[in-house]
Amino acid sequence: MSSTPQFKFTSFLRTGLKWLPKNKSTKLTDDEDSQMYIVENDEDELDRQIVQHYICRLCFDGNYTAPMDDLLKRGAKVLEIGCGPAAWSLEMSSTFPNLQFVLQSHSRASYSPNLHYYRHIKSQFFGFDIEEFNPPQVFPTTVMPQNCFFEVADATKLPLPYNDNEFDFVFMRSFANVLTTENWPKVLQELVRITKEGGYVQVVDANFDFKCLGPNTDILVRALQKAMRLRGLNPTVATKLPAMLAQAGLINVHDEMYSAPVGKFDGTKLGMLVKENWAHSVKAYSPLLIKTRVMSEKDINRHVGFLFDEVEEHRTREEFCAVYGQKPRAD
Ligand SMILES: C[S@@+](CC[C@H](N)C(=O)[O-])C[C@H]1O[C@@H](n2cnc3c(N)ncnc32)[C@H](O)[C@@H]1O
Repeated sequence: MSSTPQFKFTSFLRTGLKWLPKNKSTKLTDDEDSQMYIVENDEDELDRQIVQHYICRLCFDGNYTAPMDDLLKRGAKVLEIGCGPAAWSLEMSSTFPNLQFVLQSHSRASYSPNLHYYRHIKSQFFGFDIEEFNPPQVFPTTVMPQNCFFEVADATKLPLPYNDNEFDFVFMRSFANVLTTENWPKVLQELVRITKEGGYVQVVDANFDFKCLGPNTDILVRALQKAMRLRGLNPTVATKLPAMLAQAGLINVHDEMYSAPVGKFDGTKLGMLVKENWAHSVKAYSPLLIKTRVMSEKDINRHVGFLFDEVEEHRTREEFCAVYGQKPRAD
């Protein structure tokens, strides 16, 4: 049997009773519930999103693959869609602060405290997330870098509350479990609308068609894919992103796919983090499997009992895709 901790779901499953939206004091109707984000934004899910942030950073050797270095250093206006706990925006805003010490002298040897001055870097980072759950508010509201701003908005309520051509860089990550097949093209077109001509849109997502699966893992993954489809989501949307970005009007579309190990079998930190992410994901997605009646709690527990040994034995992998495209200039 597995050497990894066994998960018991009884304590956290609140089938039929979600974090209640503000102004509501009753259970959600089935219709309301089916419109909502498919996992609960509880503390464990926020932890999972932070683990996934570090996974993506390791896969793509940084926080973005779009050619944004120069503009971010010179000063760019950036938007993160569905920022969650905002690990990406917080890191980006610290990497590209709006105040920076710059040496006046060209020679480091002549450095003296009198020779430096402040230079304003104009990069600003905006993020939004739905605030459908109470508590918690997902994004930070207190300790924040000066160039970081968050607000409540819904990515599926279009138009988004931004002007045409407002942002140099629009970033959206892990929305495969948020946007329905019907919503994806509309939202991507909207991201193009709010991006400046010559600016970039970047989308990063996991492919929920995991590779090299053991028998119990395969059953769980197929169940998850079925439950996602029942909610109108496409588990393999990550593999379609290059075509979808081009369809939305972006040019110079570039994609990278990283096949990450799920486990410690290849001895990397990445593999350990992905396995940790899976442990969080089991908790996060189980209520969906039960609610959609795709699998019972008992069956989930039984298969999960083998999951964390199987990923090592079968050298399971999860693909992450990073795709960006540029908004064409009018001339
Ligand atoms: C998987 S998390 C990803 C968080 C963040 N993008 C990241 O990569 O770290 C998905 C986020 O989308 C948010 N979300 C779900 N539905 C949304 C919607 N309709 N509009 C805006 N955000 C939404 C959730 O609250 C959650 O914070």
